[in-house]
Amino acid sequence: MKRLNGLRNTFRPAAFGLAAAFACAAFAVAPPADDDKARLSAGKSRFDKLCVSCHGADGAGIAPGASTASYGPRLAGRPELNEAHIRDRIIHGKHGDKAMPPWGTVLDDAEIGQLTVYVKWLAATPSGRPAAGPLAPFDLNDEARIAAGKRRFAKTCAGYCHGFEGVGGRAPDFKGRTDLPAELAYETIYKGRQGADVMPPWGNAFTNEQIWELVAYLQYLGKQQP
Ligand code: HEC
Repeated sequence: MKRLNGLRNTFRPAAFGLAAAFACAAFAVAPPADDDKARLSAGKSRFDKLCVSCHGADGAGIAPGASTASYGPRLAGRPELNEAHIRDRIIHGKHGDKAMPPWGTVLDDAEIGQLTVYVKWLAATPSGRPAAGPLAPFDLNDEARIAAGKRRFAKTCAGYCHGFEGVGGRAPDFKGRTDLPAELAYETIYKGRQGADVMPPWGNAFTNEQIWELVAYLQYLGKQQP
């Protein structure tokens, strides 16, 4: 953090600082992110209609030989499924005795995009969660988890953009924020964000639990006075 601050001071023609601040603000907490929420929930309702018969509720999968005729692999909790692969499967399906039907001629681009976002999100979430239960693998109010998230945040996120305790950084503050649902926070940390500037994806650097601890900390900050 010292080093970064030093760098910032060295390179600080006012204009640069300002531009960087704007770039950061533009992505890091990508305002209410209504678009993403809308895409996710559109993807989920389509998935619930078209895909659960084979892939199970919340992508939990249906075992081969289950009493239903259809079988589909588990999609939840499989971070190795990348976006291109998911998209390709949805569009083209796959032949075989366990076939995946192609949707490329049935759904339009936007619909396929929403499904892809949702499946990617399922794939990024920890597996084995109960269908209707919380997404996080532990209670987000757990003090030890919040403390662990706080330490990780201070080490990794505070120095560059988000500021000490998520305040006063070059990105908007986290304190008092109520418009950042846990699932979306998780997804943003996991995948990062593309925009005017880039929030790096942490999905490969952190385990699911570590990401959820960060989410627990952000939720905790959201309940503090701004
Ligand atoms: C008739 C059953 C069936 C339906 C309906 C179905 N799938 Fe599948 N899906 C499968 C099977 C079987 C596979 C495994 C194909 C293979 O890779 O061998 C699969 C594979 C996939 C994969 C790749 C998983 C992997 O392990 O590589 C994705 C992603 C996927 N399906 C998404 C969807 C989505 C989204 C829908 C709804 C639009 C859907 N599927 C509907 C049967 C189905």
